Amino acid sequence: MNELNGRVAFVTGGGSGIGLGIAMACVNRGMNVVLADVQQEHLDGALSHFQTQGQGQRVHAIRLDVTDRGAYQNAASETEGAFGKIHLLCNNAGIDIAGPFKQCAYADWDWGLGVLLNGVVNGILTWLPRILKHGEGGHIVNTASMAGVIVVPNCSIYNTAKAAVIALSETLRSELAPDNIGVSAFCPGPVLTAIGDSSRLRPEKYKKDSGLLAYEEQRRQRMAAVQSPPWMSIEECGERVLRGVQRNDLYIFTHREFKEGVAERMEAMLASFPDEPINERRAKEIPYLTSNPIFKETIRAAMGR
Ligand SMILES: NC(=O)c1ccc[n+]([C@@H]2O[C@H](COP(=O)([O-])OP(=O)(O)OC[C@H]3O[C@@H](n4cnc5c(N)ncnc54)[C@H](O)[C@@H]3O)[C@@H](O)[C@H]2O)c1
Repeated sequence: MNELNGRVAFVTGGGSGIGLGIAMACVNRGMNVVLADVQQEHLDGALSHFQTQGQGQRVHAIRLDVTDRGAYQNAASETEGAFGKIHLLCNNAGIDIAGPFKQCAYADWDWGLGVLLNGVVNGILTWLPRILKHGEGGHIVNTASMAGVIVVPNCSIYNTAKAAVIALSETLRSELAPDNIGVSAFCPGPVLTAIGDSSRLRPEKYKKDSGLLAYEEQRRQRMAAVQSPPWMSIEECGERVLRGVQRNDLYIFTHREFKEGVAERMEAMLASFPDEPINERRAKEIPYLTSNPIFKETIRAAMGR
């Protein structure tokens, strides 16, 4: 989606951090943006930022919990009422959830996957019919993480959700291409945001049986104590996302530092295949496991830059 000027973006988690950075980059390209966020104070802070920049009329804020499917439909209708049809959907809202697997309870898995994975699914199920209906195409950015590619220790819930978001994005990439809808799996490394503070968003119903509350509090204090971390700014991150949208990148990586780790993972996978001849008939019968055009297209596009 190369032409962004005058178009509309819907950004979840848009009140803070990376979502806010994406919204800033969108507004700088002449887009109108709806910020959807569960925290009113984040929305208020973001709105006042745009107002002080003289960009307030380009932004509309909606309080939304992405796990609430009914509210999501209302938010979509409110968005179209405010700015008209949308072309860019950024499923970005997220939380930090961490702790050793042995301490994770069902309540932890339900909260974590509910926001980090189902929140993305809800966004696509809400918006896709509306984007298909206007027929002009568009782009979907799903915020995953480096943690979806290289697992972070003691983060089984987070890693699982983010890997699933990458798989979902890869699957939709070919399915939606005929409708002129691009899909990107966005995999940032460390970005300076408020995510370390997200345990306070945990709903009461997921607190009672949680095994992670003590761990989360220790982690929150540890993260708050880090002074001047060398993490990326939200502005730079947002610019990288929009560049990826305009180029229709399948993967949007932000941190060069982690490339070798990904290569190592891929090499580990390749090294683990049985060292034996290919069964040609089986390979021919199952072409979708033999090759996926999205990978060759991505390699071609990267080599052409
Ligand atoms: N910060 C990083 O280093 C980093 C790295 C990789 C991936 N990510 C991912 O980036 C995304 C944005 O995180 P961030 O770092 O900007 O954190 P952040 O806390 O600054 O922003 C996240 C926003 O999402 C909102 N949110 C949380 N749960 C929500 C819900 N149920 N419904 C609607 N809004 C909700 C929060 O209120 C917050 O404003 C997340 O998906 C996160 O997993 C962050």
